[in-house]
Amino acid sequence: MKRLLFSLMAMVSVLTLSAQSIYDFKVKNDIGQEIPLSDYKGKVLLIVNTATRCGFTPQYKELEPLYQKYQAQGFEILDFPCNQFGQQAPGTIQEIHQFCTANFNIHFPQFDKIDVNGENAHPLYTWLKAQAGGGDIKWNFTKFLIGRDGKVIKRYESRDKVATIETDMQMEVNPVLRNIMARRSVRKYLDKPVEHEKLETVALAGINAPSAMNHQDWAVRIIEDQKLMADVKDKCRNALNLICVCAPADGRFDLDAGLLGENMMLAAQSLGLGTCIQTGPIRFLTTDKKAKAFRDSLDIPEGYKLLYVISIGYPDEQPEAKPRDASKVKFIK
Ligand SMILES: Cc1cc2nc3c(=O)[nH]c(=O)nc-3n(C[C@H](O)[C@H](O)[C@H](O)COP(=O)(O)O)c2cc1C
Repeated sequence: MKRLLFSLMAMVSVLTLSAQSIYDFKVKNDIGQEIPLSDYKGKVLLIVNTATRCGFTPQYKELEPLYQKYQAQGFEILDFPCNQFGQQAPGTIQEIHQFCTANFNIHFPQFDKIDVNGENAHPLYTWLKAQAGGGDIKWNFTKFLIGRDGKVIKRYESRDKVATIETDMQMEVNPVLRNIMARRSVRKYLDKPVEHEKLETVALAGINAPSAMNHQDWAVRIIEDQKLMADVKDKCRNALNLICVCAPADGRFDLDAGLLGENMMLAAQSLGLGTCIQTGPIRFLTTDKKAKAFRDSLDIPEGYKLLYVISIGYPDEQPEAKPRDASKVKFIK
């Protein structure tokens, strides 16, 4: 019997850890109803184990303004009172809720009291700890930030500043920053050309980039003709559409042309399109006889060169982010 119980428990914990996402868990609210976390799909979540008699309890004064500031942008704080640390969350959930409302005027949901460590730990917490690392929860007001895709972004210990969490949250909550963070070079595309209207939108975003003295010394050619694409697409990551960016041959306006390209790639990303900026195919495109018809169609202005191309299309892959080196940035104070 004991052995059966043990293997059942092991099965439960394996199931917990292998749960596909946070949305597979259910939690109890302050009136005992089961709430599926799938109700929070697509939102940015801050999950926190709280206590009402802790030195960190005044953090509520910072959490509520954070909630007020970002709730409309799809941010939720999920508060789980837990009495495991110094027994600093005594009383019923109703008493706790009354205390928090009266003292801190909180508006985010408070769920039923749970254990976060030990054999009675709520499966949500077993999963959170496995995802984020850092072992057992050390104290009240440990926090987990969850992205819109349901993945754990980061774990914060009790002393970590709410301001730090806000900085990290911006990348999820702010749509411009989120778009920047989500863009990846896409090198596999669906066999579906981009609609002309979307290409127009992308181009409009491009030419709204800054340029020195607003000279706009660039020429942009967007290839929709599939006969022309057939000659070159295997050299340009096989997209069905290609943006060709030309700039004065002396290189004076390469910087402007680069800014134009980034605007276009971010606009494309926001429209559900993938892109890959490329200089690799330039030699082929500008010299190879197979690319002659393509080259001739570009009608590059006198004194200009083809600087780079951007393949654009519906992504058929979701590449992982490549690491970025934050040490390249120094703040001089
Ligand atoms: C000037 C420039 C030239 C590039 N040329 C190529 C290229 O020829 N082929 C290619 O597959 N990717 C090319 N890339 C894409 C980079 O490899 C890519 O941006 C980089 O690895 C970072 O990955 P990410 O864009 O997914 O963040 C180029 C990027 C830049 C900025």
